[in-house]
Amino acid sequence: MKGSIVILDCGGQYAHLIGNRVRRLGAYSEIMVAETPAEQLKEAAGIILSGGPQSVYEKGSPQADPGIFKLNIPILGLCYGHQWIAHALGGRVTPGNVKEYGRTEIEILDQQSTIFRDVPMLTTVWMSHGDEVTTMPAGFTHTARSVSCELAAMADETRRIFGLQFHVEVTHSEHGMQMLKNFVALCAAAPWSVESYADRIGAQIKREAGDRRVFMLVSGGVDSTVAFTLLNKVLGPGRVQGLLVDTGLMRKEEVPLIRQAFQKLGIRNLHVEDASDEFFSALDGVFDPEEKRRKIGDTFLKVQQRVSQELALEGPASDAWLLGQGTIYPDTIETGGTKHADQIKTHHNRVPAIQRMIEEGKVIEPLKELYKDEVRRLGEELGLPPELVRRHPFPGPGLGVRILCAASPSPMQFPDKQMEERARSLITVPHVALPVRSVGVQGDGRTYRHALALFSHHPCEVTPEHRALATMIPNAIPVFNRVLLCTSYTDVPAFVFSPGFLTSDRADLARAADAIVDEEMRQAELYEEIWQFPVVLLPFGLMPGGQSVVLRPIRSTDAMTADAYPLPPIVLERMTDRLMRLPGVEAVFLDLTNKPPGTIEWE
Ligand code: XMP
Repeated sequence: MKGSIVILDCGGQYAHLIGNRVRRLGAYSEIMVAETPAEQLKEAAGIILSGGPQSVYEKGSPQADPGIFKLNIPILGLCYGHQWIAHALGGRVTPGNVKEYGRTEIEILDQQSTIFRDVPMLTTVWMSHGDEVTTMPAGFTHTARSVSCELAAMADETRRIFGLQFHVEVTHSEHGMQMLKNFVALCAAAPWSVESYADRIGAQIKREAGDRRVFMLVSGGVDSTVAFTLLNKVLGPGRVQGLLVDTGLMRKEEVPLIRQAFQKLGIRNLHVEDASDEFFSALDGVFDPEEKRRKIGDTFLKVQQRVSQELALEGPASDAWLLGQGTIYPDTIETGGTKHADQIKTHHNRVPAIQRMIEEGKVIEPLKELYKDEVRRLGEELGLPPELVRRHPFPGPGLGVRILCAASPSPMQFPDKQMEERARSLITVPHVALPVRSVGVQGDGRTYRHALALFSHHPCEVTPEHRALATMIPNAIPVFNRVLLCTSYTDVPAFVFSPGFLTSDRADLARAADAIVDEEMRQAELYEEIWQFPVVLLPFGLMPGGQSVVLRPIRSTDAMTADAYPLPPIVLERMTDRLMRLPGVEAVFLDLTNKPPGTIEWE
């Protein structure tokens, strides 16, 4: 599109995040494949080559059209993009001595360089690379270095071509947004606003839908609520039918809240179906996290097909209907939706049956390129009440992924004596390996490992030592992917495991625990600051049938990465105290793990 900053996608999962950041800076962005011919980029305001996992010399690695250098448009290469620029213009790229991964300090050698305006001389950035540029192409100046990567940045100010070995788009790069802002300022891009974006998505919806109607699954979360409202606005209520399936795995008072919000907006084409019995019987005896997710996704689809027939609609399998979903961009990555990403979790709106429908062109997902912050802004723009669009994200499978199930305990075992020794020497506080496993993420891959619980004399006070252990343990002792602090006991009690599945009793208990946490969080005025606060139920306590609760408050900006939120001790104490009074709850833990290595939800 004319006037947008085009991001040439060089693989990995960086391009969309860069697009989001550019939009946050108020400029239009668009993602195109790396090989897009220069001819089609003539009207772009700027070009950013994203990072990617390959080496420029590798066969089949992304290769942009060198013709872009003749377009006289500002160009920025990040990581792989930086290496490709060097390679394409006659510089040299060689395999790095060390694989550099994580936070690194760089020293800026030329603070007058456009990209580094208003950036301090020493700043932390996020590096993730093997290869590095060792010889710059003619016309470039060396503008920054790090200890293990000499040519961390280069610039040709005359031709407005810049290369940075690091990722400016991730929050770990301290002044990354400033660097991106400096580049965007060079580009004279078309201004981006939520209003103009809504118009553009609107036009796209009309094009995609043609004369078909949309059957929209509303899960109760922010995303599907916004998508449903948008479809109503663009296509008109006559062409949209909403279905809210009560799975029995929703939060307390969720269904009435959603219903009322739509009523206030005059949206009446929402049918609510109580299918909780159907969900509980489909989940009977299931404990594997992925199988649970698949069962929930499939049951959704079954209920939707049944209800659409009952409502005397032609099923969405027919050509007259499309299935609408509120999928947003991060959902598609975690399901392995992009070329290079590993499958970490199956989202309920990406189960195989839905995938097939997507391939057949029978699904419409108007928000699939957006991040949460953009969905919220769009929701407000559409007139949804702030208390609804500002609500914490809630996963489609609901409490289903927050109630851990197991038929038997899963005891932790060290793979060898060395690791056992290392654990003994590193973990110096009282601790116990819990008999359940949860899903985590490391590198781009999925893990399914045990949680380690720490104990302390002041159980509601998280010390720097606890936080340090939470970072260190999953790296050093990879049988664990989560570290918790027990907030209800000072010493390790004898935990008793009981087989536990997804039953309505456990769902009621999880709902009650969630409601307590929600109330306390609001009372402490922390709701806005905390991004999300899953409350997880584990199948063990001190007596047969007893349960434990895990508190998982996190801080994030887009759910791609997250930090454990430091709850004030007094709030933690109040939550623990109230939870311990819930019949059936016999222990409480606080999850101290960041993402990575732990995912936000436990399953
Ligand atoms: P994880 O647990 O993978 O979660 O770190 C990242 C974000 O995605 C939400 N989530 C889901 N959202 N359908 C959704 O719509 C799902 O199946 C699903 N699973 C996780 C999660 O709550 C967090 O905000």
